[in-house]
This record gives sequence, structure tokens and C-alpha cells, in this order.
Amino acid sequence: MIARSARDAAGARIRIAPSLLSANFARLADDVAMCEAGGADWLHVDVMDGQFVPNLTFGAKVIETVRKLSKLPLDVHLMVVEPEKYFDDFAKAGASGMTIHVEAAPHLDRQIARIKELGCTAGVALNPATPVDSVQQVAAELDLLLVMTVNPGFGGQKFIPYSVAKVQRARALLDETGSRAALEVDGGIARATIKRVYDAGANTFVAGNAIFSAKDPQREIAALRAACGTVT
Ligand code: DX5
Ligand code: ZN
Repeated sequence: MIARSARDAAGARIRIAPSLLSANFARLADDVAMCEAGGADWLHVDVMDGQFVPNLTFGAKVIETVRKLSKLPLDVHLMVVEPEKYFDDFAKAGASGMTIHVEAAPHLDRQIARIKELGCTAGVALNPATPVDSVQQVAAELDLLLVMTVNPGFGGQKFIPYSVAKVQRARALLDETGSRAALEVDGGIARATIKRVYDAGANTFVAGNAIFSAKDPQREIAALRAACGTVT
């Protein structure tokens, strides 16, 4: 049996966060219910503005809709320029955590503080080409550090292999700075890739295509957790 309370060696819980970007929006309620039934820990909500990334998705209205459909934490990933413009609306809509990109956030310290002031957990995301060191000064303030394992913008892309070493560096930074931040990976996470990033120190795994394109999406959530290899 796969225990939902599985913990990794460092004592941090393994979290699986299905990305609703790959859900069927014509039956979003069913897909959200499926994620819950499958034992998802968080729901990952990808906000794209067509500027920071070459794709456009949704905003506060959809966050509010998903909030009404589920009690699971909503892990909102802001792939937008000037993310602070959205903080109030997204917090009001029911975001549990907001993650902003360091590449779009010149005033990271202030922006992290503002997210927390609104009662949300604060995360920072790094594009593949952005070094881990760029968050060194704020590491201890973070609730979540997201290492992108593809270039953001689309679901269903191929995992970038050099991400594994980057996750190791991110784990080292969090440990060195005494940060208790969740270490999340996002992009191309599937049964074939998840163990590599888990072994490198990640504990929170976003998966879109791997779950929603699976033959049995509900069981795939448990299969991803089991692929980390530490749960019985
Ligand atoms: C990509 C998004 C991801 C995406 C992941 O820009 O941030 O959350 O939905 O999708 P998969 O798991 O299909 O790579
Ligand atoms: Zn994402």
C-alpha cells in the first residue's frame, strides 16, 4: 500500500501536485475530484500572462473556481511579469501559496514579504538557466523553492537532464541556510524522471502530462509517489 504520509529520508513529506494545466477544463470538477481521490497533496495552478512566457492561461476567476471545488492547498505558479499586481486578487481568490519567478521579481525580498502578509506561503521559481545562487540571500525566508525542470510555458515538455545537479545545489543551499522551504520541481516529471530529482533532494513534485495523459490518472498519482522508491 502507498502511504499518503510517506516521508523521505530527511523527514520531509513527499508531495505530489497535479498541474491543472493538463486537466480537461470542460470537466474541471471531475478532474479535481479525481486528483483528490488519487491522493494528491496539492493542486498546482499555472498562471501565464503571454509576456513572461509565450502562452496565456487564466487568472483569479479560475483560482476561485478551483478553490470552491477542493479543500487541497492551491499551489499557484505565477509565470507573469510584475507578479505583485496579482497578489491581492489571488490571495482573495483562495491561493494557499504563490510562487514567483526570480527573473520577473527585482524586489524579491519585498515581494516575498507581501505574499506572506496576505496569509499565503511564499515561493520562488528558477528558470533552467537561472543559477541557484540567485536566491541565496532570501533562502531562509522561503516556504518553497521551485526548480523548473523545463523552460516554463507549456505542459508536456521533456525533462532537462542538467536539472538533477541543480536540484542537488538547491538542496545544499536550503540545508546550509537552515531553510525549511519545500523543494519543488516542475516540468517533465514522470515515473522515468521523478526518482532522479527525489534522490537529488526534491520533495514536492508537479506533474501535468504524466498524470492527465495516463491510462488511469488517479492511480498515476500513487505510481509517481511509489517511483520515488521509499514508500511501502
Ligand atoms: C510549465 C508549467 C508546468 C506544467 C508541467 O510551464 O509550469 O506546471 O504544467 O507540465 P508537465 O508535467 O506536463 O511537464
Ligand atoms: Zn507550474
